[in-house]
Amino acid sequence: MAKTEVFVSSPMISHVEIENWRSLEKFDMSLDPLTALVGANGAGKTAVLHAIDLLLGNRWPSMASFNLPRDFCRMDTSLGIRIRCTFDPPLQHVDALSKDQDIAALEFRCQPYKRKTATGDVGDLHDDFYPLNAKGEQPMVATVGPRKVRRSR
Ligand SMILES: Nc1ncnc2c1ncn2[C@@H]1O[C@H](COP(=O)(O)OP(=O)(O)OP(=O)(O)O)[C@@H](O)[C@H]1O
Ligand SMILES: [Mg+2]
Repeated sequence: MAKTEVFVSSPMISHVEIENWRSLEKFDMSLDPLTALVGANGAGKTAVLHAIDLLLGNRWPSMASFNLPRDFCRMDTSLGIRIRCTFDPPLQHVDALSKDQDIAALEFRCQPYKRKTATGDVGDLHDDFYPLNAKGEQPMVATVGPRKVRRSR
């Protein structure tokens, strides 16, 4: 039998985690270079692909990405939606201090505030988009270069 090999030269999505998105209350899937999504009608295949598109597609993910409340599992907006894609190898990012940063995963969340804040009341939905390192932590990424200090004579 002929063996099919798939060569991947750029980062590949190696893992997908989804919570409280449409029919997917808790979903977790590892991906190979070639993965087929097979399931009965209504199993959630399109929901998985739409979640990945929301996180990594052409539009920057934001509150405007959602169809509220329909995208929340059982239309319950008190739940937090979470979509995470992990990459193998990690994405490479050179920050403003020329430091190489390995971005192992990207995560997008939409959840209600637990406490009143300057931008919203308890229960108001807000979104967060995080880069994560291999430990699942947010890396310290410089977004502004070093300031030039003028010496006074
Ligand atoms: N917010 C929601 N909460 C719970 N279930 C939902 C929600 N939105 C959609 N669903 C359910 O998800 C199912 C549809 O899922 P999806 O379209 O992802 O399946 P699919 O595997 O792509 O199906 P098909 O093979 O027909 O394309 C339907 O049963 C629908 O009732
Ligand atoms: Mg479908």
